[in-house]
Amino acid sequence: MMHQYNNWLNKFDKVITKRKKLLIYRYRKTITNSNARLITFLNKKYINFSSNDYLGLANHPQVISSYQKEVKISGTSTSSSGHIIGYSIKHKILEKKLANLLDYPNAILFNSGFDANQAIISTIIDKNDCVITDRLIHASIISAVVQSSGTLKRFSHNNMISLDKILKTTNKYTNKLIITEGVFSMDGDQAPLQKIMMHAKTNNSWVMIDDAHGFGVLGKNGKGSTYLKNCKPEILVITFSKAIGVSGAAILCKYKILADYLIQCARQLIYSTSLSIAQINAIDTAITIMQESNYLRRRLRRNIQRFKHGMKKLKLKLIPSNTAIQSIIFNNNIHVLNLVKKARNHGIWLNAIRPPTVPVSSPRIRITLTAMHRKHDIDDLLKLLSSC
Ligand SMILES: Cc1ncc(COP(=O)(O)O)c(C=O)c1O
Repeated sequence: MMHQYNNWLNKFDKVITKRKKLLIYRYRKTITNSNARLITFLNKKYINFSSNDYLGLANHPQVISSYQKEVKISGTSTSSSGHIIGYSIKHKILEKKLANLLDYPNAILFNSGFDANQAIISTIIDKNDCVITDRLIHASIISAVVQSSGTLKRFSHNNMISLDKILKTTNKYTNKLIITEGVFSMDGDQAPLQKIMMHAKTNNSWVMIDDAHGFGVLGKNGKGSTYLKNCKPEILVITFSKAIGVSGAAILCKYKILADYLIQCARQLIYSTSLSIAQINAIDTAITIMQESNYLRRRLRRNIQRFKHGMKKLKLKLIPSNTAIQSIIFNNNIHVLNLVKKARNHGIWLNAIRPPTVPVSSPRIRITLTAMHRKHDIDDLLKLLSSC
């Protein structure tokens, strides 16, 4: 026993030493305060270009007051899973509201987007099933498929020839599920959803879309990527941790029996304490505000355009994206880390995304714009980038 424990310590030490050497060791910074525009770190304020709170709803007075009102009534926790006593009338109403909003028969709430992705894959994928994902799919999906007993295949990013090639090798599987993201989390580009739906149809496969970064910002009244592209995948995952500004997630199911099956079998639902009613109230209010706030989406679009236009004028290259996520690729970690350091000296908060989150050859700066940024914030960022 003792011997095995020492092997563990040796392994941890090796991994950490290697990461420090390769400049990919992860430090968590102790943030004292943050919102969609500003962040405070060690008593200094920075312009925040690392938030997923695209519409600024995390600090919206009505969202905060919904949370506060409900926390006084029902406390801070449901104190149990939804299968025991943790499923309230407010959970039920929110599920119904989401299903109506996105035109699905059922929505089921989860504690996070990570949980929702784990739940759907671990619950439905069996030994003879095949999951076919975009190569850049989110880590929560990859880790769920790897832990499942199904087969994982990956197609080149947004490449329909590659998807088609892979689909041709999958006839032997009982069920097939193609998974992609509405808006890719690292680079902000969008998947060709209609083409993927067509390939799925001709190959007898289901489609799952993770729209963590599309819901709230794209499509009519923020209904997301699938609305924008007029698609209805069998499974749609949305999160409340990005444009909705709270936390939690939902799975929308095209077939009621799939929702029933998840309720019966998804361990993430059955064996985990549900979202608190105060969170549910805040999510509900934030979704209403999100739907009514075309002006916030317009402001966000204007900020994206200002940034992209400025980068073009400076002849600086971005990964092509029309969304709030704008990334710049570098060829080594030192260069990225130097830029982050320089930005901090200029009162700007940027984040370096390094391997293993992205390929070794392409560390990047992931810039997120929000509706809360002011023109001069973006101009300050452009000025900084122009000097790199
Ligand atoms: C595409 C995608 N899916 C799922 C998640 C997980 O969502 P959550 O933060 O709600 O767990 C994220 C967040 O990083 C994401 O970017």
